[in-house]
Amino acid sequence: MSETTPKGLTRLAFGGDYNPEQWPESVWAEDVRLMREAGVTMVSVGIFSWALLEPARGVHDFGWLDRLLDLLHENGVRADLGTPTVAPPAWFYREHPEALPVAADGTRYAFGSRGAICHSNADYRAAAAAVTTELATRYGDHPALALWHVHNEYGVPVSACYCESCAAHFRRWLARTYGTVDAVNEAWGTAFWGQRYADFEQIEPPRLTPTVGNPGQALDYKRFADATMRENFTAERDILHRLAPGIPVTTNFMTALSQCETVDYWAWGREVDLVSNDHYLITDGRRTHVNLAMAADLTRSVAGGAPWLLLEHSTSGVNWQARNPAKAPGQMARNSLAHVARGSEGAMFFQWRQSRRGAEKFHSAMVPHAGTDSRVWREVVELGASVEALAPVRGTRTVADAALLWDWHSWWAQTLPWRPSEDHDARERADAFYEALYDRHVTVDFAHPEADLSAYPLVVVPALYLMTEAAALNVRAYVENGGTLVVSYFSGIVDEYDAVHDGAYPGALRDVLGLTVEEFSPLLKDDRVRLTGPDGAELCGDVWSEFVVERGAETVYRYADGLAAGRPAVTRHRFGAGTAWYVSTRLGVQGLDAVLGLAAGDAGTAPCAELPRDVEVVRRTGEAGTFVFAVNHTASDAEVPLETPGAELLTGERAAGSLAVPAGAVRVVRLDG
Ligand code: GAL
Repeated sequence: MSETTPKGLTRLAFGGDYNPEQWPESVWAEDVRLMREAGVTMVSVGIFSWALLEPARGVHDFGWLDRLLDLLHENGVRADLGTPTVAPPAWFYREHPEALPVAADGTRYAFGSRGAICHSNADYRAAAAAVTTELATRYGDHPALALWHVHNEYGVPVSACYCESCAAHFRRWLARTYGTVDAVNEAWGTAFWGQRYADFEQIEPPRLTPTVGNPGQALDYKRFADATMRENFTAERDILHRLAPGIPVTTNFMTALSQCETVDYWAWGREVDLVSNDHYLITDGRRTHVNLAMAADLTRSVAGGAPWLLLEHSTSGVNWQARNPAKAPGQMARNSLAHVARGSEGAMFFQWRQSRRGAEKFHSAMVPHAGTDSRVWREVVELGASVEALAPVRGTRTVADAALLWDWHSWWAQTLPWRPSEDHDARERADAFYEALYDRHVTVDFAHPEADLSAYPLVVVPALYLMTEAAALNVRAYVENGGTLVVSYFSGIVDEYDAVHDGAYPGALRDVLGLTVEEFSPLLKDDRVRLTGPDGAELCGDVWSEFVVERGAETVYRYADGLAAGRPAVTRHRFGAGTAWYVSTRLGVQGLDAVLGLAAGDAGTAPCAELPRDVEVVRRTGEAGTFVFAVNHTASDAEVPLETPGAELLTGERAAGSLAVPAGAVRVVRLDG
């Protein structure tokens, strides 16, 4: 059994990516002094240092890293030490230009950025193993070492390479996965457009083709690319485990669905000792704290509910979006502590000291260009104290009320071209279902469609287009045994090969939903359909409609106009001891709320306390007790009802009956008992 918590860390993690190699060593002394002032407990080092650690093949310069780790140790700061394999040095690419990845159109990427890696390349693999071995041998028992940080954000900026080595590796992967080339032909449906293969040797990566390529091939290539990156992660991890036993290994995920779509984090969550995540606010006009909560819930879910670690977020603005606003006063702390509420064992940032040079010099940091006489620094110091006060929550688990079924493979399949409507977006549906639950103050676990769902009174299924036979049986058993299910349109349509389930849509869900769908009828851009329901209630859908035929289900809302006028739009089906709802058009968050309100009646879930929409209340519980986190994202003071009195950890005050949460503030109560 590997360790799962950073070695020697007795409090929550607080700190950030620390890149002192960008500064003269004279600055380091000030760095550690400021780290102590801010209550920094851990920093991530060495992530991009390969060219410094190995300036020429086989020539090593560890002196600066030795001095740095010693300095951190002397100052009580733990180290999350990176393997620098995301940024091979220039000399490596001179020797092995074919290690640079190739895009689907045949263009080879150039050196000069980061993450330019063909993960199938044997020379890259050997060099990565060698530098990892050197680091593990030298620092495996260094007293500062708490955690290994392998690579950086697998899956971005390049996930798949289309070179000849990848072609050969893909053929081997296919042979392992399918056994025979005929099984590949069958799975991909190569009878269509005469794509039949007589031999594995004839199969290529899905490179640029004149028109749409084979969807089964494209989907499998995404699986292959993900598995190939994972092979390289596990190779490094195994070296670290062997040479530095007792030190947990992580790699920083990017679970926000807007930030990395190429990695199946369900699979990765099983491979790391500690799940860690990077999260950046996307300022697209939507409520950023909802996206944050969603990413945090998804991260916890890929960690199997166990505590995880926020390894990067920003103190203020980033510099890679079109417009990069600063965070509002107090927003950084709300962001950090909202992650902690949802299971993070701390709050870490990119980065400690803002760079003067390089591509990210306008990205905010804990020590900004403005120095310590700045709002950001004062808020960092204040947050350090808050994080320290929250040490008792370590090891406790966030309590969820409902599950949302999510599968990267299903998402990937829905991004392929030539679908019924390009306006349909699986991620948008997940966002909308999540937001509707968030607004009802429901804490959400994400669940793989084949995972045990029996603990959840309510399970929602946003556009789960691809469902295996096992997933279909799982969902069916869940409802039969008394669960309440809410399913969006375009769910249960194809199997894992992107082949339509036999018979009428939705093949994987027909019986449990008690209906069939004769035809999809997506709407034209900006068209809307009206739905009429109980007591004259009206809803409005867009993007999608379809011709639903009841086969046991009752109609709750009916299309009032459009091609499907008069037909069922939202249905409810009693199935076994449970109930399955179906929503056949795209409802906005408020429309979904109306359906979820009805479904909550079936699920028997308690109506949520009367709280403003943007006051977030989440619980963590465990041996140390139960902690209620209240995050007030509004500009008004709020009162959060408390069933048991307790001690507020950030102010030291007692709270009973209700908890006062000032505008923009966070409060955390440890309930008595
Ligand atoms: C992350 C990355 C960091 C830094 C940060 C800010 O995705 O891991 O190295 O680039 O973004 O842009």
